[in-house]
Amino acid sequence: MGSSSSLLPAMAAVALHFLLLSPAAVEPRAVSTAPHRRYDAIFSFGDSFADTGNNPVAFDWYDIPDPVTRPPYGITFFDGLPTGRNCDGRLIIDFIAQNLSLPLVPPYLSHNGSFRQGANFAVGGATTLEPSFFHADDPPGTSQLFPLNTSLSVQLSWFDSLKPSLCSTPQDRSTVPRVRPRHDPTVGPGRRASALWPTILSPARLALEVYKGFFQKLIGDGATTVVVPGMIPSGCSPPILVVFADADAAEYDAATGCLREPNEIATLHNSLLLDAVEELRDKYPDVAIVHTELFDHVSEMVRSPVKFGFRKDILSVCCGGPGRYNYNTQVFCGDEGATTCKDPSKSLYWDGVHLTEAAYHYIADDWLRAIT
Ligand SMILES: *[C@@H]1O[C@H](CO)[C@@H](O)[C@H](O)[C@H]1NC(C)=O
Ligand SMILES: *[C@@H]1O[C@H](CO)[C@@H](O)[C@H](O)[C@H]1NC(C)=O
Ligand SMILES: *[C@@H]1O[C@H](CO)[C@@H](O)[C@H](O)[C@H]1NC(C)=O
Repeated sequence: MGSSSSLLPAMAAVALHFLLLSPAAVEPRAVSTAPHRRYDAIFSFGDSFADTGNNPVAFDWYDIPDPVTRPPYGITFFDGLPTGRNCDGRLIIDFIAQNLSLPLVPPYLSHNGSFRQGANFAVGGATTLEPSFFHADDPPGTSQLFPLNTSLSVQLSWFDSLKPSLCSTPQDRSTVPRVRPRHDPTVGPGRRASALWPTILSPARLALEVYKGFFQKLIGDGATTVVVPGMIPSGCSPPILVVFADADAAEYDAATGCLREPNEIATLHNSLLLDAVEELRDKYPDVAIVHTELFDHVSEMVRSPVKFGFRKDILSVCCGGPGRYNYNTQVFCGDEGATTCKDPSKSLYWDGVHLTEAAYHYIADDWLRAIT
């Protein structure tokens, strides 16, 4: 259990999280007291930051125990019942659904019912690239399970299998233009060079090609609003701070206590993603491609915890095992020996890389301003 659960946070740090909002059909109503609804459905792709209940099913395929199916997951909302969310309560996508007067987006793998108002394909631990990319260097004889077969392309195949059952016929966008060659993302104004970039540039570029293919496919299927957040500042994540603890103080940002290099990787990823977003905006002027912030929001919360009502030891997790940052690679939230803070709304980090409902609420309010 320890070995598999300790992998989760590191995997989840490869954050991907996309929302596809489908606009409300123009349906004149003579008399309507219902609140104005801008969107008819939400389709979501990503990892544990967006997963509303798929991971228990996916983990079960491989007989992997899943810590999020136990208390105290869900203590803040959902009547204290674990729902498969990596959180004490609601995720960003839940706040968005509630705010748009839509049902909480049902998890594709476990929901037995209609998906007409949306489906969530996000799975905790999911990756942009195929598992084979990560398993290529596994030593022979090892049976490394993560990443599971839940990559973005797999999530897209689930979406495809659902499409015939969704009521409206997607708009015909059969003439999706081909991707133009791009400029070199390492050069150009405002880009800070990092010694680390050459080593991660290649996988980051591969991921970007996957994102672009992914967006083009969804736009071809009729998407008119696509919400694209970047990555979290992983150098501030307690599991990263524990696993990559460094004796050299220069490796840390003195103002925040975050590790510099992982944050630089996230910054590189995010700047490549923004390039892709801008390229797609040029190409599809009729599609709203909304870029939303995750990195800056979390960074701001780490810098100014009191402003958000958070405790000053902002880098400690609310629920975890004994150790620095209240994070322990062997004792995970929900395990015997783990503790839960008295008031999760005073914490930024819930169980590791994942944030508390309180933090997600702040972020959701900002994203809502961008999409409503
Ligand atoms: C799914 O829902 C239907 C109708 O509500 C029910 O008959 C069926 O048993 C359910 N299936 C599962 C696997 O729960
Ligand atoms: C991964 O999942 C997809 C979609 O469900 C399936 O088509 C494919 O065969 C799976 N691959 C492996 C290696 O299990
Ligand atoms: C939805 O979010 C917006 C932006 O944060 C906020 O102004 C509004 O009050 C929210 N509405 C509901 C019904 O939650």
